[in-house]
Amino acid sequence: MMSARTSAWRRRGLAVVLSAAAVASLAVARAQQAPTAKPAAPAPAGQTPAAPAAAPAAPAVPTLPAPTRAIVPVAASSVAAKPDQWVGEYVAMTGVVEASLGKLAFTVDQDRTKASPDVLVLASRMSDPVAPNTYVTVIGLLMKYDPADVAAKSKVHAQDLGADAAKYKGKPVILATSVVNDRMLDLARFIPPPMTPEEEGLQKAMRGVPAASGELRKGADASNAELAVKNVATLAAAFAETEAFMKKRGKVDAVKWAADARANVLLVEKSAKAGAWDDAKKAAAAVGSACGTCHTPYRERLEDGSFRFKSGG
Ligand code: HEC
Repeated sequence: MMSARTSAWRRRGLAVVLSAAAVASLAVARAQQAPTAKPAAPAPAGQTPAAPAAAPAAPAVPTLPAPTRAIVPVAASSVAAKPDQWVGEYVAMTGVVEASLGKLAFTVDQDRTKASPDVLVLASRMSDPVAPNTYVTVIGLLMKYDPADVAAKSKVHAQDLGADAAKYKGKPVILATSVVNDRMLDLARFIPPPMTPEEEGLQKAMRGVPAASGELRKGADASNAELAVKNVATLAAAFAETEAFMKKRGKVDAVKWAADARANVLLVEKSAKAGAWDDAKKAAAAVGSACGTCHTPYRERLEDGSFRFKSGG
């Protein structure tokens, strides 16, 4: 049993994490919503801007809209007793995990006595499981439980509760976007899938490209040989790596784009050394426009804003 003091302390701790978690979950909701979200790495000044990062694909299944009003902090006991006042609102509910009803469903109680009524929570994703008898702050949309209503609101939250469904019908349920535990960890957070060593190599190479290609372009435009050739080795290596990567994946068009980009980098060098600045400029511009050509079909933006190779293209 927790002493009253520890319990009060923990509650305060949770209140502190609440705003951070709320902001984080809002940010995620917005990222999912905003098709115009800026790419993390804009084209450097002077470079033909790459086509905007492919807009995050509209979710294949309906999911919760971003909240339009401030999130209301609530206690599990209040929700269990008088849910009506918050139905349709986004709430941040604190309580103790009572029981797990599956990977994506659990119940929350006011305290550990198990005497008070519990509140059902449905999550669309749990990267880590909840631990019974620990404090959580659940952020999400409060509604009255009905499997069909949940599915209409958010398919990703429509978990099959089996025999438990009847028990919770008409009772409050939270469709959770965040489940913050007593260590401030959001158990429902997005974890990007692991990368293969080749993907890691490609990512590392790509991260060096914006600054290097920006200088290449600037050097060519300003007839500055030193600047124009400074990053040739970096860029040639990056595009060689990209070419090898795409070859392995059987992306014939991308293999050619990477090879062409590398050839144009080398042409900038050759032209700059010969003082053929028109040729250098043209080749540098071609390097700059290769980015969008390849990114549109073969790069995707994950929910956390990070980029990955997209095989679909
Ligand atoms: C032939 C294909 C191809 C070309 C050409 C290309 N890229 Fe990429 N780029 C990719 C792929 C695939 C990814 C996704 C992989 C990743 O980010 O891990 C990527 C990712 C990136 C990223 C994100 C890296 C990260 O943090 O994950 C940046 C920045 C980037 N490219 C810049 C550029 C710029 C600038 C150019 C042009 C000068 C360019 N790329 C040309 C294929 C290409």
